[in-house]
Amino acid sequence: MAPLTAHPNLLLLLLASIPLSLHSCIWIDAAPIVVPDLSLCQPAIGTSPGFPGEEQVLDCCLPPTNQDNIKEFSFKDYPIRQKKIRRAAHKASAKYIEKYNRAYQLMRALPSDDPRSFAVQANIHCAFCNGAYKQRDTNITLQVHFSWLFLPWHRWYIYFHERILGSLLGDPSFALLYWNWDNQVDGGNSLPPLFAVNGSALYDRNRDANANLGLNASAAPLVRLRIGSAATLSPSEVIQENLNVMYQSMVTASTADMFMGGAYSAGTDFSNVSADNAPLGGTLELNAHGGIHYWTGDPRATLRGDMGVFTTAARDPIFYAHHTNVDRLWEVWKSIPGGRRTNPIDKDFLDAEFLFFDENSNLVKVKVRDALDYEKLGIEYKKAHKGDNQWLNFEPLPVSQGSQVEYARMQGAKEMVPFDKQSLDSPKYELGLNFTALVQRPQSEKGDDEEEVLCIQGLEVTQDTFVHLQVFLNLPQANASTPIVSAEYLGSTNLVPMPAHSKHLTTNVILEIGDNIKRIGLQKDEWVVITILVQTDDPMSASSITIRGMSIQYH
Ligand code: C2O
Repeated sequence: MAPLTAHPNLLLLLLASIPLSLHSCIWIDAAPIVVPDLSLCQPAIGTSPGFPGEEQVLDCCLPPTNQDNIKEFSFKDYPIRQKKIRRAAHKASAKYIEKYNRAYQLMRALPSDDPRSFAVQANIHCAFCNGAYKQRDTNITLQVHFSWLFLPWHRWYIYFHERILGSLLGDPSFALLYWNWDNQVDGGNSLPPLFAVNGSALYDRNRDANANLGLNASAAPLVRLRIGSAATLSPSEVIQENLNVMYQSMVTASTADMFMGGAYSAGTDFSNVSADNAPLGGTLELNAHGGIHYWTGDPRATLRGDMGVFTTAARDPIFYAHHTNVDRLWEVWKSIPGGRRTNPIDKDFLDAEFLFFDENSNLVKVKVRDALDYEKLGIEYKKAHKGDNQWLNFEPLPVSQGSQVEYARMQGAKEMVPFDKQSLDSPKYELGLNFTALVQRPQSEKGDDEEEVLCIQGLEVTQDTFVHLQVFLNLPQANASTPIVSAEYLGSTNLVPMPAHSKHLTTNVILEIGDNIKRIGLQKDEWVVITILVQTDDPMSASSITIRGMSIQYH
């Protein structure tokens, strides 16, 4: 028999037969990612705060270790000695603050080649987001952001970080504090004061001066960032907007695809994707999580390091408290009634593997499946205040009157052709600073447990600047100073820069839209107006941001 050779047509046939869920919005399954070969580390390209304009090659490879001695994680080997009770940082007692400080002092004092040192802890983050490691046996960069890997990878990361701090203190009950920025009630939404004491082990001078005011800082806007000409908001405006941000990203985003992000399997490649298979980040990651990174970072530094760029973010001790809150909100999200709020059950998710150092400097291989029950990991979250989930019942009100489709048409807005109706070399749409288009709603009946979602297909950005998008429904006049408190606001996308070996990132964005349609009263309409606003710190790169299409689907 003649050997099979790959014929281009055969390849096309194969591609066409791969089932896509959510029509071109979510990546297909392949095989779970496995741990990378650590001996093949490349210096990541990063930036260093204080050197504007310079691209620096940064070595964040993990310290040399014997990969033959990788230990497999098991609950038996990591028994729960004492529960780790994670509390809100702004409520920490003086005694706990002192202990927290001591823990980070001890970690900072370790030599930088010790796997438990603060330097190595920070480099682990840089390594898995700035291109230091490849997916095994490939040339594809391993990336733990912008997909369903985001929540479990960071859960494991802070789990080991916390164990190391506890073991340095000799205190197995030591628990991380969480930065309660979602809480708009009793002061959780500014930088927790213990991190703002100049000279302490919890301080970082590479922060926005406002953030470092601690208790005197103004509340952190979760997504509306002071980029370019964006208006400064009063404290009560910030609070109202934050409630809507949390409502849109936690309550209406009621499926794993929307909230946690899309699939990332072996072979997923951010630098070489078409809109058909672009990965996708979840609402928690792309909204408040990214916004807080930007807000905390230092505007004097390149890309607002430390927190403003993944390369250096984990050099700031607040990073771990920030992610402890992200982790907590993952659990809160699952407990909200309504929707399909469960973790993915795909084996590409459950069997995905990561590597971390434990408190004895062992290299440990963990799987996503073992991270899904945080109580099994000995973790408990304590609420700061009984009203801190105020956003749960937020009721955004509409500000537009009637459908704006005709108005938008008169202004020149075009009907959007969904990407899957086009050929692969179809044109890209340039967003500019403000992009308005008409998008058709599905004509079929919506199933009872289905959500109506907007998919922005094949968003392509450069990775070396922070990109902030705001998406509005039925508000073609929206501009940088439009409040994001109304029912017209669909959500934002904050892309934290991750300068890596490839300059471009292609991703899909999905946003729940059915709740907004209902609140505005557009249920009967066939077409809706979608407006995307773009803000970046680099006007040059703003002009090159494109999408492949938009579509609305039941899913
Ligand atoms: Cu790995 Cu907040 O990012």
